[in-house]
Amino acid sequence: MRKVISPAQQQFPKIRASACVVTALVCLLVQSAFAQPADTIRQFQFEPADGSYQLALKEVPRPVAGPGQVLVRIKAVSLNRRDFNMLHWKYDPENSMAGTIPLSDGAGEVIAIGENVTRFNVGDRVAGIFFEKWIDGPPSPESLVSDRGGNQGGMLSEIIVTDQDGLVSIPEHLSFEEAATLPCAAVTAWVGLFKRGQIKPGQFVLLEGTGGVSVFGLQFAKAAGAYPIITSSRDEKLQKATKLGAFGTVNYRKNADWQVEVRRLTGDHGVDQVLDVGGRDTLARALEALAYGGHIALIGGLSGYGSDLPTDSIMWINATASGVYVGSRADFEAMNMFISEHQLRPLIDRVFDFEQADKAFEYMGNESFMGKIVIRVADA
Ligand SMILES: NC(=O)c1ccc[n+]([C@@H]2O[C@H](COP(=O)([O-])OP(=O)(O)OC[C@H]3O[C@@H](n4cnc5c(N)ncnc54)[C@H](OP(=O)(O)O)[C@@H]3O)[C@@H](O)[C@H]2O)c1
Repeated sequence: MRKVISPAQQQFPKIRASACVVTALVCLLVQSAFAQPADTIRQFQFEPADGSYQLALKEVPRPVAGPGQVLVRIKAVSLNRRDFNMLHWKYDPENSMAGTIPLSDGAGEVIAIGENVTRFNVGDRVAGIFFEKWIDGPPSPESLVSDRGGNQGGMLSEIIVTDQDGLVSIPEHLSFEEAATLPCAAVTAWVGLFKRGQIKPGQFVLLEGTGGVSVFGLQFAKAAGAYPIITSSRDEKLQKATKLGAFGTVNYRKNADWQVEVRRLTGDHGVDQVLDVGGRDTLARALEALAYGGHIALIGGLSGYGSDLPTDSIMWINATASGVYVGSRADFEAMNMFISEHQLRPLIDRVFDFEQADKAFEYMGNESFMGKIVIRVADA
């Protein structure tokens, strides 16, 4: 007799295979429903070495979000000159940075919230503000010691716990890597040009060198309808700056009196705004290039701090000079609105993997970079 094979029997191998897939999926779902997050996370800490510091990768207990706190899975972090300098500080046992998590700047995703958290939900895309406790208005002694990656824990960690007030939402069009470049350099350039300098369309703006603060300054000035003039030690960087929108460029290494050329580029009007990141070697020259009624933001000390400020020349030309130390959360939020409105994208020179964090610091040391250096902490 002919054996009858039912359609179900004909399909048996497929049914069996599907049943296996379903069982496996159910197992996975059950597993993930009961999966506990790892008890530990990885983070880098400053560790004393040879009279200064090195980066040490540590396994530490996973932090917990207390009342008003938020847990952020860090996706990317970026370097600033300050972080590089800190790694090379002389080790002083009385004032040691051992155990501090480096880097002020990072962006990531909220993965847990503590009681009474109202500003964020799980899944939100956020960046840390530079001073965790500087929310708005002028700074206070308390807010100025809440700097991340210094007095406060930094961002070079798989997960951080932070006060909900110490975060901002990041612009939608930016990746985590792009957003991770904003907290220090971009906010500083923003405050220098917009809040203190009250930049206007048509003004000339001087940016010194092509590091983080200056390249943001260039992009902001251009977007504001101003004419950015930027200096660099390398012609190839000046060519890139022109592509980014620089109105004029000057090689300060080939041209020791670069301020004369800067002035010439303005038709002898002078520059209306300066972000002085050079300090000792650049400040007096920048003042020579300043227009009547111009504004100079005192920001950095790439050539050293402690310049003799020629106060008389500031007075003669009715200029203003203001000290800028990054800014508040309100400044960061105002800047993010401008970045979103103009769809600006930070210039990232290179992205390093988390395990290669020390290579990122080394790379900053050779000064061949332009804009920002990023470390990817987790896949986006
Ligand atoms: N006050 C604040 O709130 C604040 C905030 C951020 C940064 N800062 C300070 O501002 C400075 C810049 O910081 P950053 O993070 O933007 O630095 P960065 O990204 O490390 O910038 C490095 C670049 O600056 C240029 N440079 C170096 N020495 C120079 C000099 N003597 N004159 C002109 N340009 C020079 C070089 O560009 P080229 O290769 O193109 O020449 C170099 O590649 C640092 O001193 C930093 O500590 C202060």
